[in-house]
Amino acid sequence: MENNYLASSKHVCVVLIFLISHFVTINSWQYKWNPNSYSSVQDGQKSIMYFRGKAHENDYFKVIHSEDDWMLVGARNVVHNISLTDLKQFDEIKWPADESDINVCIRKQKPKEECQNYIRVLVPKNPMDLFVCGTNAFRPRCRTYRKNSEGKYEFKGKEEEGIAKCPFDPKQNSTSIYVDDKFYSATVADFSARDPLILESDKFIRSEQYDSKWLNEPNFVSSFAKEDKVFFFFRETAIENINCGKATFSRVARICKEDQGGNVLLPNTWTSFFKARLNCSIPGNMPFYFNEIQSTTSLEEGSYRPVPNSRDRHDMIYGVFTTSENSIPGSAICAFSHEDIINTFQGQFKGQESALHNWLAVPEEKVPVPHPQECSRHSKDLPDMTLDFIKTHPLMDKAVPARGGAPILVHTSFTSRFTQIAVDWQVNSGKGRYYDIIFVGTNDGRVIKTINKGETSKIETVIIEDILVFHDHSPITNLKVYKKNSLTEKLVVMSSKDIVSIPLHRCHEKTSCHACVALQDPYCSWIENKCANSERGIQNIQEGKDDDCGPAPPMGVSKPPTTTIRHFVPQKPLVCNCEDQEKKPKTYPIDIPSRVPVNYPEMPEENQNFIDEGGRVEEIKDRTESNVTASTMAISVVVSIVLSLVIGFLIGYKVSSCRGSRNIDTPHLDRNIAIQKTKNRLSSTGENVYFNPETVNLQKPNINYVVNVTNQGKLNSSVETKPVHKSNKVYL
Ligand SMILES: *[C@@H]1O[C@H](CO)[C@@H](O)[C@H](O)[C@H]1NC(C)=O
Ligand SMILES: *[C@@H]1O[C@H](CO)[C@@H](O)[C@H](O)[C@H]1NC(C)=O
Ligand SMILES: *[C@@H]1O[C@H](CO)[C@@H](O)[C@H](O)[C@H]1NC(C)=O
Repeated sequence: MENNYLASSKHVCVVLIFLISHFVTINSWQYKWNPNSYSSVQDGQKSIMYFRGKAHENDYFKVIHSEDDWMLVGARNVVHNISLTDLKQFDEIKWPADESDINVCIRKQKPKEECQNYIRVLVPKNPMDLFVCGTNAFRPRCRTYRKNSEGKYEFKGKEEEGIAKCPFDPKQNSTSIYVDDKFYSATVADFSARDPLILESDKFIRSEQYDSKWLNEPNFVSSFAKEDKVFFFFRETAIENINCGKATFSRVARICKEDQGGNVLLPNTWTSFFKARLNCSIPGNMPFYFNEIQSTTSLEEGSYRPVPNSRDRHDMIYGVFTTSENSIPGSAICAFSHEDIINTFQGQFKGQESALHNWLAVPEEKVPVPHPQECSRHSKDLPDMTLDFIKTHPLMDKAVPARGGAPILVHTSFTSRFTQIAVDWQVNSGKGRYYDIIFVGTNDGRVIKTINKGETSKIETVIIEDILVFHDHSPITNLKVYKKNSLTEKLVVMSSKDIVSIPLHRCHEKTSCHACVALQDPYCSWIENKCANSERGIQNIQEGKDDDCGPAPPMGVSKPPTTTIRHFVPQKPLVCNCEDQEKKPKTYPIDIPSRVPVNYPEMPEENQNFIDEGGRVEEIKDRTESNVTASTMAISVVVSIVLSLVIGFLIGYKVSSCRGSRNIDTPHLDRNIAIQKTKNRLSSTGENVYFNPETVNLQKPNINYVVNVTNQGKLNSSVETKPVHKSNKVYL
């Protein structure tokens, strides 16, 4: 009986450990998605502007250049020059695909839709010349347009080959940059996309061809130039992880602008190509990685946490990362500093002794001197040893760490992922605090606005707004913050067929000081009796409330918003009726079923909370009681389990020790140990314990009782020796 008791308590222990670990795991994944405000962009508002493509076609819009108050958008057979002030078209450059190229394309079994000229590259080489490349029905071509006396761009002269400068397919992910009179492209150089490369097309220097150590099925995301280097962000199949299964990792690669290529070894090939993994993960014993980079901002001066003055700013970049497409949908935003990127490249390299070995850090003595990451104009003079090392060791050992060691924002949902990101850098929120305000687009047509309010190294995410921009849930393919002056600042949101601009903030919708402060939006503060875009009024981003607002308004006083962008108020909160949703297309997106409004309608409109059961952002502080309930529930469940276990154990112990006290000579614990020892001895004497009837009988307490009775006084030793004699007897 006692045996059973112990066994079952062990069992319960295992269950408890499982429960606790389960709870902890859920804890890091199940986060609350409770933005301070929901809204939805409605057609026909003054503050909202549209640029629509040809409705029946997919234009694959791509912003390729913007300057002052205009942007150039590459589309199907045309470049639009669009005013950023009102999204009206200034001008356009038409360039349809060549008729004969279209015929060849169709003969190659490509759909007619793709046998068009999608403009993917567009760079002003100087104030007069515009360099343009398009897919041209799977035969990439480039042109240089020149400004004529009327200020219009004209094409005269010869078309150039566009292979390796421009992708073949508008869906291929590529990037290019024009810097110091040189054109760098990261794309594929063949029809079937098997030859990825990073190319500088003037000197014609490229990455090593068909070498999976250099580039392995990459998807290029962005590029920027800084000082003497050019950086490329991409994701690729991780060669160092291939022994543990196929995985995609995110990378930053860099090359030196003045690289001339190698000589006999690595001719016309980068001698300065190195890459490192980007680490965007939820820290822990087993960090959870968001492995697939989707987009980045440009490199600017900013700070991932609020800073009081410009001294604390760094060159940095924000990126959107997701889990892989066939796993649980998760997205995250991570920040990386230029300094951390540079440091990673100054460190150790990763290498493999042979194809059968693991990928490990290369010991210092095997690394050529000077460290190969140094940029040199004399790359042709590099010794063969060094070139050989460079050719075989493009990967750095360490990953570039994310600022703050964790994502700024994590999002899990079964219906959406992050796609694009834009940042309004260093916005003054008053009280001497500057914030990087992050806008992130999703693949279901929403824009989320977020900041990190954590002033220490701990990240404390605030989700300010969740805005539905495209009612047809088109994925957002580009985001751009446009700020000329306070009158024209806006966020330009793009899908592959529409461009919309929306205001950066909706301060004026808040009609009370409390609501204004609760928004925690660095743009807004309460001044002159209204919520305005100002840094001089009442605002408290840290707490979301401020004593200067006076006493809180009585609960239940809720004013319906009267402004153009309306707050979403769920019609049927608890049950999702799909038919109803179809009838009311203007209600919120598909993932509404998982959102349960809490405390509605007692709370004022601004304090409504929606709990997304899909997950939780770890660092978000609960602001209202309703939020606390979920975690409080979980904690109380675990506490009650622990309590009942302890009480159960005590009662069980009491009962069994009462029983034990009846057979005074046999304290159950001792006996148990004795049996164990006997068993050990039996097995160590080489006899087969499992087929010995005596040893099997040892499990039964009545046998022991007999043993004990016959050996009064010398309990332990007798129990140890007796069965051995007995078993000997059986054998005799
Ligand atoms: C776009 O239009 C603006 C305004 O007319 C003009 O200043 C600019 O040069 C145009 N850009 C191109 C590349 O055509
Ligand atoms: C390009 O990137 C998008 C978004 O990450 C992805 O869905 C698509 O499959 C990629 N294109 C190719 C050709 O891999
Ligand atoms: C990534 O960062 C996390 C948290 O900072 C750390 O625990 C983990 O070891 C890092 N992973 C790699 C591959 O460097």
